[in-house]
Amino acid sequence: MNIGIIGCGYVCDTYMSTWPQHPNLVIRGVTDIDPARAEIISKLYGLRRYASNEELLADPEIDIVVNLTSIESHTEVTRQILQAGKHVYSEKPLTMDFEQGKALVDLAREKGVLLSCAPCNTLSDTTQTMWRAVRDGLVGDVRMIYAEMDDNPIYLMSPEEWRSRSGAPWPYQHEYEAGCTIEHVGYHLTWLCAMFGPVETVTAFSKWTLPDKTDAPLNPKDTPDFSVACLDFKSGVTARVTCSIGAPWDHRMRIIGNQGMLSADTYRHYQCPVYLERFTKLSMNARKSYTVRNSNLLQWL
Ligand SMILES: NC(=O)c1ccc[n+]([C@@H]2O[C@H](COP(=O)([O-])OP(=O)(O)OC[C@H]3O[C@@H](n4cnc5c(N)ncnc54)[C@H](O)[C@@H]3O)[C@@H](O)[C@H]2O)c1
Repeated sequence: MNIGIIGCGYVCDTYMSTWPQHPNLVIRGVTDIDPARAEIISKLYGLRRYASNEELLADPEIDIVVNLTSIESHTEVTRQILQAGKHVYSEKPLTMDFEQGKALVDLAREKGVLLSCAPCNTLSDTTQTMWRAVRDGLVGDVRMIYAEMDDNPIYLMSPEEWRSRSGAPWPYQHEYEAGCTIEHVGYHLTWLCAMFGPVETVTAFSKWTLPDKTDAPLNPKDTPDFSVACLDFKSGVTARVTCSIGAPWDHRMRIIGNQGMLSADTYRHYQCPVYLERFTKLSMNARKSYTVRNSNLLQWL
């Protein structure tokens, strides 16, 4: 299967940096609405540059197209790719709107091609290990899940100066306008829904908590930068998912059952270790001893 890439911005370099680990992948070429970006990526990585999306999509040698365009272009570019009869892997989110997403799924079915979307961390060793442990009943019946997506107070880390290897600026204005929930919650939803099925109800709160994060004009300017949602799955499991770009880094995944807890420090490192605590008398006593009030030893001292 030969791959074509549309979108040569910041994240394109991230894809290029992992490409050498997958020598079976053949990238035929790249394109971008901005010819200068396409030229830079083409030169740096030795890839053919197509003059336009249309030219890339007309190449019969390309089977899969990776859509790395900015969020507002996702729907249209993915539609173009499907219309050309090619498989799609899109960066997240697939679309900004449920109906648009559904229309793309219908179009992919009609064309007989595959439509897939980042993130793919459900396939990571970490998530697969947690999933296997859940299926093997190592924590008993899963009762609740805590999934955190706090990405540090990035506005204090000069994101205006961040550059990819090829010099693309990190599109911080776009990131602020789309908001951390749309940008990031998919990283947790993808493994949560894979493991526990569909969600029946969502109760959520979000707020624009950092009005002073940039002087740059934003449209809209008040996209929430903090959110918490409680998800009630049809399977009976309950999950709390938190997103922010104001709180210090916390990417933990915790699956809590009636007999134990599975935890991992981050969804992002695909081989992050998974820890299992069984809720035994010993582990409960150890937890009790953390609390000075309840510790016989500390009271005795
Ligand atoms: N930046 C990150 O750290 C990061 C990480 C993971 C995922 N992503 C996702 O990757 C995608 C791209 O993000 P980015 O940071 O690379 O953005 P970016 O703005 O740096 O790059 C987007 C590129 O797409 C091009 N483009 C826009 N519309 C187009 C169209 N219709 N046809 C062809 N080219 C078009 C732009 O000219 C630009 O070069 C987004 O969906 C984002 O959510 C970004």
